[in-house]
Amino acid sequence: MQELRKFVAPEFVFGCGSLNLAGRYAANFGAEKVLIVTDPGVIAAGWCAKVRDVLDAAGIASVVFSAVSPNPRAEEVMSGAEFYRGNGCDVIVAVGGGSAMDCAKGIGIVSMNRKHILQFAGIDNVTVPGPPLICIPTTAGSSADVSQFAIIANPLERVKIAIISKTVVPDVALIDPATTLTMDPYLTACTGIDALVHAIEAFVSSAHSPLLDMHALEAIRLIRANLLNTIANPLDLELRGKLMQASLEAGLAFSNASLGAVHAMAHSLGGYLDLPHGECNAILLDHVISFNYAEAVERYLIIGEALGLDMRGMTAKEKRSALLEEIAALKHAAGITKTLRETGTQITDIPELARKALLDPCLVTNPRRLDKRDIEVIYAEAL
Ligand SMILES: [Fe+2]
Repeated sequence: MQELRKFVAPEFVFGCGSLNLAGRYAANFGAEKVLIVTDPGVIAAGWCAKVRDVLDAAGIASVVFSAVSPNPRAEEVMSGAEFYRGNGCDVIVAVGGGSAMDCAKGIGIVSMNRKHILQFAGIDNVTVPGPPLICIPTTAGSSADVSQFAIIANPLERVKIAIISKTVVPDVALIDPATTLTMDPYLTACTGIDALVHAIEAFVSSAHSPLLDMHALEAIRLIRANLLNTIANPLDLELRGKLMQASLEAGLAFSNASLGAVHAMAHSLGGYLDLPHGECNAILLDHVISFNYAEAVERYLIIGEALGLDMRGMTAKEKRSALLEEIAALKHAAGITKTLRETGTQITDIPELARKALLDPCLVTNPRRLDKRDIEVIYAEAL
């Protein structure tokens, strides 16, 4: 008999121009004053001003909080919650990538629960849902706009915490591929590979299910077919739309099946050395697959097919090599060629990185059990 599986997803509107619905949705939530959470890069690209105009046109006042780092920090969440309260806001609109959206989720939690953000780490630790949250993603990767995850950095301890709760699923996501036209090639690569990792980790997760598999596999196909083309043709809206769809489908899959060792280890790295999330994932991906492979061979072979590999006639060993080579080739062709050492990671950092990764909730659904020594070996291989 099939196991019980739950599928959580927000209402979302997908397509060019969906951003223009922000005013109507905010009004539906009874908004009088909106807190827009964004970051300096998104302001420079013009998307924050665009959303403010849309809210203005609907007669809704807004204030902007943009003190958000690429790895959003606990103290930024606390300042944002203070700003939300001080300005008498009643609805939050996040405009940006995972950083702005995760920070917005944190601000919502703190505003309604009046506790420090770090107290909500882990699974299902948020009691009261935040105020209405509208997410407008401007990258095609994080999927924070559809996910039950918020990742917040604690620079004092040099760790990232994962808050996993149905209460951090936004009330609506307005997913407008036009907002991704302003991403530079490296950001397109890092966020695209992040989405690929979401899809792969969801597909091999111990909580995978047929309802999620189709989304994960379609995301893998779309990324394989469109990531490199998009990097070469950044202003092609059709291609941007395909990557945005891939990100959405990967998000639907991982939000419900959770992730695995790549994310657990990337969170540890990102928290310890303040590195970009997508870059950490890309560096670790093939090394984690190499470790996990024997435990989920059938699933990895299906991933290989989704990546377009023709493995007919190959031995088991050749199939494994073909998959690993394909993943490595894709990330290199996308321009992510760094090793862990080139990010500034030292061999002496590895024990501490492994200790922290072992505590990450994403590890729970990795297809193969890992102990601290296994994690240290994978980090060392990626060095
Ligand atoms: Fe991710």
